[in-house]
Amino acid sequence: MSRSLLWRSALIFLIWVLLNSIVCAEAHSASNKLRNWFRARRGGHFQVLDPKAFRKLLGDDWKWAASTIPFFESEDQDITAAYYFRWSVYRKHIQVHPEVGHIITEFLPDVNWAGPYNTIVAAAGHHIYEGRWLRDSAILDDYSRFWLWPWARTREYTAWLGDAMLARAQVLGGLHLLRELLPGLVKNFRAWQASSWVKDAGCFWSGDTQDGGEDSISGNGCRVSINAIMYGELSAIARMQELLGMHAESAGNLKEAAQLRDSALKLLWNPDIQFLGTYKAQPPSTRGPTNSRCAGAPEWPEGEVVPVRESMALSTPYFFNMVPANASHLHAMWNQVWDKDGFAAKWGPRTAERRSPHYNFTCDHPCTWNGPSWPFETSKLIAALANVLNYFPEQVNVSSRQWYELMAQYARAHTRSHPVQPSDVSGKAVPPHPWISEDIHPDMGYWVARDYMLRHGEADWRRGYSYLHSTFCDLVITGLVGLRPRADDLLVVSPLVPDDIGWFALDSLLYHGFNLAIVWDRTGERYGRGSGLSVWADGRLLARSLKMQRLEVHLTDRTELS
Ligand SMILES: *[C@@H]1O[C@H](CO)[C@@H](O)[C@H](O)[C@H]1NC(C)=O
Ligand SMILES: *[C@@H]1O[C@H](CO)[C@@H](O)[C@H](O)[C@H]1NC(C)=O
Ligand SMILES: *[C@@H]1O[C@H](CO)[C@@H](O)[C@H](O)[C@H]1NC(C)=O
Repeated sequence: MSRSLLWRSALIFLIWVLLNSIVCAEAHSASNKLRNWFRARRGGHFQVLDPKAFRKLLGDDWKWAASTIPFFESEDQDITAAYYFRWSVYRKHIQVHPEVGHIITEFLPDVNWAGPYNTIVAAAGHHIYEGRWLRDSAILDDYSRFWLWPWARTREYTAWLGDAMLARAQVLGGLHLLRELLPGLVKNFRAWQASSWVKDAGCFWSGDTQDGGEDSISGNGCRVSINAIMYGELSAIARMQELLGMHAESAGNLKEAAQLRDSALKLLWNPDIQFLGTYKAQPPSTRGPTNSRCAGAPEWPEGEVVPVRESMALSTPYFFNMVPANASHLHAMWNQVWDKDGFAAKWGPRTAERRSPHYNFTCDHPCTWNGPSWPFETSKLIAALANVLNYFPEQVNVSSRQWYELMAQYARAHTRSHPVQPSDVSGKAVPPHPWISEDIHPDMGYWVARDYMLRHGEADWRRGYSYLHSTFCDLVITGLVGLRPRADDLLVVSPLVPDDIGWFALDSLLYHGFNLAIVWDRTGERYGRGSGLSVWADGRLLARSLKMQRLEVHLTDRTELS
């Protein structure tokens, strides 16, 4: 380079730096971007935590994790341990195939009811919710596109794909992939309507197995879950259309979704037990064959709502925000979660009420929904309860301490449960903790399907090793830490943590292009960065409160805090 060129470059650089430091927010964000880029080159998005401190928890996954996952720690060692374990489990299920790129599996070994590449759509909503926090966005870009291929088995099980894809865009910021995905999602929803809508009754019908709840007490019919999930899909489609400026389409779909919501909440309500339940109806002729019921399963008359309380009545409507402000009579259903004769149990919420005469009916099958606790369901229930505490805090008889205790219990199902013959899929012995399989005995804490299959000499009894059919890390981020993702630039942080808890920290979290750290330090001694609840964005203190409380701040706000 000639000397004059060098001078000229230096001068241009100097002017650029000056411009940046003087005026507008855009320039600030440009220099932030540059700073982030340099920081990323050095391998660090960390503002509070030292990633090296988590080497032991992550083992061989540490390097991968440091480059792509947000790091977290809390005073509760079980929650911390389960958090990193779940990212390690997630990583095991990320597979790459040249034709389609990345996909995520539910079982590690091939199972004969899976679709192409051992994929199963039942878990896809959970996969996308959990994986939306990965920096490496190619993984879920590929996987989202995968489900809209005509040969993917997209309607084999009820699934909340559109809702999850929107939830992911809310983390990434902007319209990430939505324009591309929307037409396929609309087609998918309309295909569900064509196959599963019961005209006479006015509701969606599903076999319980196809609805992700096989051998349940209420069985097949117009189940709360498929109706809430379809409401969630149509609402997500409407909100995507709104974001894309398709206002007329959006308004039409919102109206249709509201009708669906009002008629389902009316039809599925059983006043005798004050609960939502399964309305028994004949399947529409367009619906494919469903598997037969287990011999010990009860039969119920048609044209009525089955009088049994099942946790799907809470987990799905509240997960998809299907409960309108004027339906406050539904909130009392939550009391069952802490009732020993309802769902409350030592190792996780039961999927059916303990007091039912059909609880744990005889069934010669490893996977039943007549009582055992299913992480698939527990994770939805915990997310649903976080929605309740965020949207109806005054109307509901629940505190954030109850939420936190449910979350801690879920963590302990990972860290203190009783795995049966701990070995991986190849048969190699592995440490017994942490552990995640299909369903856990709610009173005894062992993993039911694995135990059953081993006792019955079934060859694939190891298939539930590192089973990925639920979320955990997403609940930590959106519930415990309380980052509530949204499309606009308002950052909402509302931790569901009792304020006698001393500390937690979430760091290296990529949200709307900002590197965030969210820290609770009651005394300020743990991290030495000030006491209270603090949020840093790209090294800048964005918000702080001495008390544990909801924080709201615009990501682009330039107010200087000290
Ligand atoms: C709530 O209001 C909607 C109209 O916005 C109505 O259709 C619905 O029936 C009401 N639900 C209840 C439980 O009152
Ligand atoms: C269901 O019944 C079986 C057989 O009596 C028993 O071993 C098991 O612990 C029961 N399961 C639950 C969840 O209560
Ligand atoms: C509130 O919850 C407690 C404990 O879960 C329960 O005993 C009580 O009946 C509930 N009250 C109402 C009004 O639902």
